[in-house]
Amino acid sequence: MTALWRDRTGAFSWLRTVALVAAIAPALWLVWLALTHDLGSRPINAAIHFTGTWTIRFLIATLAVTPLRVLGRWPKLIGIRRYLGLTTFGYAALHLTLYILDQHFDLIHVAAEIALRFYLLIGFVAFIGLCILAATSTDASIKRLGAQRWTKLHKAIFILTPLAIVHAFLQAKIDVTDATIIAAFAVLLIALRLLKRYGNAENPVAVAAVALGVALATALIEAAWFALLTGVDPRLVLEADLDITMARPVWYALGAGLLVTLIAIVRRNARRKAGQGQPMRVRTA
Ligand code: HEM
Repeated sequence: MTALWRDRTGAFSWLRTVALVAAIAPALWLVWLALTHDLGSRPINAAIHFTGTWTIRFLIATLAVTPLRVLGRWPKLIGIRRYLGLTTFGYAALHLTLYILDQHFDLIHVAAEIALRFYLLIGFVAFIGLCILAATSTDASIKRLGAQRWTKLHKAIFILTPLAIVHAFLQAKIDVTDATIIAAFAVLLIALRLLKRYGNAENPVAVAAVALGVALATALIEAAWFALLTGVDPRLVLEADLDITMARPVWYALGAGLLVTLIAIVRRNARRKAGQGQPMRVRTA
């Protein structure tokens, strides 16, 4: 078996090493918080929140690999996709285990809670989806299923990501800031994939337009959520969005949008330069 920090050829890979450290760091941090009694008065509940947060972060990171690979022309990024996917599964499994621990391993009660509470049911369906994707992530599975069927199956990530996001929204109840940021990133990444489908994946103007659209939608959806749940005037939420010091979800959406637009611009300029450097083609009769 190849060491986790090496690529398929056996050479040391910085990318895989960074991904490995990023995958392990939150778990180590959680162990540290537990050992130093820094998880508050309900440590298991705090750990459930911690692992849920990291599950969804790694899910978004997994989803980001393909659009960033296309936009930034970084083929090597594919080398960490499976890694990130399995890390997502690992944190999700820990998240569920902690929930079962919180219910004193009473599996009948756990099953009843999942069946009765909609947000748990959605989270559970997303978790089953992750189990299937993790179980079929090996080279042997790709061979057995055939590349086309495997790719089709792994498109399930586009179903389980919205389920996971709805789970995060519903459990958050009133403060949906984190869930909104995650939702904005997911929509941006899916929109970038759609741009690729329509042949505009590397066009900076199209990328910027998508980024602005996602930021605007983020602000409107958050305002609508507050209005529906708390009756807060949506104008107040939109006004708060204009305050950069408040780090509202819309600023995260804009930041991510700016980043992908910059990558598209830098790549376009690099392409143009490379084109100028090419020897002129002389037409022959
Ligand atoms: C892919 C699957 C899942 C993802 C991505 C996920 C993600 C999350 C996230 C992001 C949070 C909120 C963390 C925070 O804001 O502090 C959360 C909370 C929670 N999740 Fe999950 N989750 C998943 C599956 C499950 C499953 C299967 C269960 C249990 C059956 C579960 C039970 C909980 C509970 C109990 C909370 C805390 C709710 C509260 O304290 O009110 N999750 N999850």
